[in-house]
Amino acid sequence: MSSLKINAGNPISVLSRLLDRLTIDRIPQVKNGKRVPDSLPRGSYKFIPNNLVAVFNQFELIHTFMGYRPTDLKFIDVGCGIGNIMLIAQAYFYTVHGIELEPTYIKLAREILSIKKNTNKTAIFKQDILNFKDYRKYDIIYYYCPFEDPVQQKILELKIEDKTKVGAIILPFLKQSSAIIKDSRFERFGNIGYRKVST
Ligand SMILES: C[S@@+](CC[C@H](N)C(=O)[O-])C[C@H]1O[C@@H](n2cnc3c(N)ncnc32)[C@H](O)[C@@H]1O
Repeated sequence: MSSLKINAGNPISVLSRLLDRLTIDRIPQVKNGKRVPDSLPRGSYKFIPNNLVAVFNQFELIHTFMGYRPTDLKFIDVGCGIGNIMLIAQAYFYTVHGIELEPTYIKLAREILSIKKNTNKTAIFKQDILNFKDYRKYDIIYYYCPFEDPVQQKILELKIEDKTKVGAIILPFLKQSSAIIKDSRFERFGNIGYRKVST
């Protein structure tokens, strides 16, 4: 599996930097006298954007190597923050959902993605990712280390690995648990993720 080569000066890099600037600079630091974020549980990371070029690379690879139309796939960002990754995912997948707890991020994500109310196609669920019940509905499950606390991060990863349906691909960034490497239910998907092959 080859990888798309993206250098610092090329258009995707430039667009990624522009998107970061247009979105991240809009996150308020204080709201109603309280610092943002103020509603995340202990052990959670606040919003830290992933490297958009790396994510573009992953989506391009999925687009190239999946044996069926990638647009039919259902994508979810676990801890979606301001919707930066969802925005890119919309160019690749028909259904794009996110889960997030912090209202300030959700409000901004809804603006950026023009989501007035949740639909089957585009939705943000205000929920704790550890309590989310529907991981089995998705074909592509993406996360960028929502928990600073490695114990909680591992719990999340194992839960997703358990609930994911056969055929689904997990795209983990900064993975903490290595159990998936020896888990016979999974095989490597290129060098970017894991595909579930059995229950
Ligand atoms: C490191 S940021 C990743 C943002 C984005 N997904 C990306 O890749 O650029 C992690 C996000 O997870 C959210 N998060 C952390 N703990 C959470 C929890 N228990 N339930 C829901 N969202 C959570 C944070 O608010 C934050 O927006």
